[in-house]
Amino acid sequence: MSEKIVAPYPYLRLRRLRQSASVRALFQENHLLPSDLICPIFVRGSDDAADISTMPGISRYLIDELPKEVEELYNLGIRAVLLFPKTPNHLKTEDAAEAFNSQNLICQAIRKIKASIPEMTVLTDVALDPYTSHGHDGILKNDKIENDLTVEALVKQTLNQVEAGADGICPSDMMDGRIQAIRQALEYKKLTDILLISYALKYASALYGPFRGAVGANLKGDKMTYQLNPANSDEALREIQQDIMEGADAVIIKPGLPSLDIISQAQSFGVPIWAYQVSGEYAMIKYAAMSGALNGEKAFYEILLSLKRAGASTIITYAAKEMALCLRKNSD
Ligand code: PBG
Repeated sequence: MSEKIVAPYPYLRLRRLRQSASVRALFQENHLLPSDLICPIFVRGSDDAADISTMPGISRYLIDELPKEVEELYNLGIRAVLLFPKTPNHLKTEDAAEAFNSQNLICQAIRKIKASIPEMTVLTDVALDPYTSHGHDGILKNDKIENDLTVEALVKQTLNQVEAGADGICPSDMMDGRIQAIRQALEYKKLTDILLISYALKYASALYGPFRGAVGANLKGDKMTYQLNPANSDEALREIQQDIMEGADAVIIKPGLPSLDIISQAQSFGVPIWAYQVSGEYAMIKYAAMSGALNGEKAFYEILLSLKRAGASTIITYAAKEMALCLRKNSD
């Protein structure tokens, strides 16, 4: 920031700016809009339960239930959903073959939503973990994730989801070189309108725990050889820079609240930065609110606003619907 000219007290009394709700509104620097929020949606087959025990208030939806839910979100001002499948266990394999099946849950969900609410932007996650028996995001060989084999699989998974009608692809696997490979494959097929939004930066976080329950991942080991060490920030910025150079339209940073420093520093790249308030961040607030320790709505509002203050243009959050309802209520 450039040099500031500041009057001394008593000529400067900053409390003047906070004296009433109206004056505070005049001086409010950041705002939260429903169109800033992206709602993740879990999709299930009829053999799996709707309830997610680790995420109070969040359900898995059957394909036929999606149009109603997505229409409600659209009417609340939300303009994008991000889909995740709870693949039936018997379809999970070492090689994630179900990820390439054009009739898999995700492809059915994409087609259903685009046929009923075509104006909703449908984003899909690209990574193999909802489809692998070991719960890893990539292909294992001798217990090691094979980067380049995995990238080939991710390109196939992308094309499968794009052919079903996805508007945007969000690779969350953290393999090296996948944005370039996916962008090249899309260009080669003349799929020039597909958004490519990379989870450029995904820390190896304990806060993904509830999500792994939601997609039924039975993870063997951990993801430290591909997700980033939470102690590192220079490496985080290199990851982001690389994905921008490889052709990402925007980058996702997660988990959200523990990454405010990176969100803020990444502003210098001049590309849209999306924050992901992940399942564990959601669960922490929800459980605290349920126990009466704090007001959940206010805590979500404050934390989502802090992500915007740090510089996130858009936020993926499980509280999207709750927040959109709350923003509508407060604007009445
Ligand atoms: C899949 C994926 C994960 C999340 C988004 N995509 C889990 C993981 O990497 O283990 C986590 C999202 C959340 O916790 O809400 N690669």
